Amino acid sequence: MGQLASVLVTAFYDQLFAKLPTIDADLTGRTFLISGSNTGIGLAAAIHLARLKALHLVLAVRDLKKGAKAKEDIIAQTNFEGIIDVWELDLSKFDGVKGFAEKANTNLRRLDGAILNAGINSTRWVTTPDGYEQILQVNGIATGLLCVLLLPLLQATSRLPSPHPDASVQMLPHLTITGSEAHFLPKFREKLAPNVLEALNVTSPATLPERYGLSKLFDVFIAREIAQLPRAEGVVVNVVSPGMVRTDIWNDEINNRGKIFSSIFRSISLPTSEGALNLIYAVLTPTPPGAFIGQCQLRPKHIPSWVLTKEGLRVQKKVWDEMVDIWRGVSPDVDNIVQV
Ligand SMILES: *[C@@H]1O[C@H](CO)[C@@H](O)[C@H](O)[C@H]1NC(C)=O
Ligand SMILES: *[C@@H]1O[C@H](CO)[C@@H](O)[C@H](O)[C@H]1NC(C)=O
Repeated sequence: MGQLASVLVTAFYDQLFAKLPTIDADLTGRTFLISGSNTGIGLAAAIHLARLKALHLVLAVRDLKKGAKAKEDIIAQTNFEGIIDVWELDLSKFDGVKGFAEKANTNLRRLDGAILNAGINSTRWVTTPDGYEQILQVNGIATGLLCVLLLPLLQATSRLPSPHPDASVQMLPHLTITGSEAHFLPKFREKLAPNVLEALNVTSPATLPERYGLSKLFDVFIAREIAQLPRAEGVVVNVVSPGMVRTDIWNDEINNRGKIFSSIFRSISLPTSEGALNLIYAVLTPTPPGAFIGQCQLRPKHIPSWVLTKEGLRVQKKVWDEMVDIWRGVSPDVDNIVQV
């Protein structure tokens, strides 16, 4: 069986039969940041973290009003007594990402886990104010920038005394990105271009159906590169697939494919609370550097096999270097953080 077929069979089996373990941890004294947490999987992840008694949650959201509503929901559902901050994060503007990271670095004394979960899909080609196609920027390039800018705080946290000195297992800070097996879908013909990001910036709506998967492939590249940095020592970096979850990101797809797809989707997709268990597993479990996680376990075979070939590694490094060049222009801190 080919890799994609085998991944699809596994995924289908998981959707129908597998039961995710409930996760038990005491997060007293710990701080977590979750992006895209006003709705869907991000909100469900925040609710889990509140139940596990984290001290401080930062909801990073595009729309502060929706964020405030999410905060109310979390408190109503969990009687959470810790701190919830709602901060604006607009990934379609690199400057906004930089400002957000500065706010985090100034205001947070520790950061035990960052779940970079915000993501979009679109049926329209939209160029951001920074000059990149928006899906690729939001889910990929800007998410990577935020990862890099949060890394020093995560590493500093790994050196702080545990808020739980008597706990049997010490918990390392985590940087977790929400990924997707959709990263198998793009043909990604631009990967051989002299400048990949430039080649991907040629307005071409016909390539939009593969953008989402491509942006998620970039997240795999980002995690695998960041995990190797000296600045990631003491920090667990991973990518997690939540599975097929009932969220708004599927709306266009459902509208396009009609009734049969829609009813199959409804019957096999997971509720957000369940999909979010994967995020909680990823942000609390020690995993190998840059690991891919799904169904609350390591899923190394769910990374497209070409990525692990010599050519794949070369493409990964090239895309990373191109992104670093962009990030450098946004923040002078980047050079220091990505130094090898
Ligand atoms: C994202 O949107 C495109 C339409 O531009 C669609 O073809 C694709 O399947 C969507 N991806 C997901 C994961 O919904
Ligand atoms: C990407 O293409 C658009 C449209 O042609 C252009 O306005 C923008 O400057 C390009 N972005 C970059 C980073 O060159």
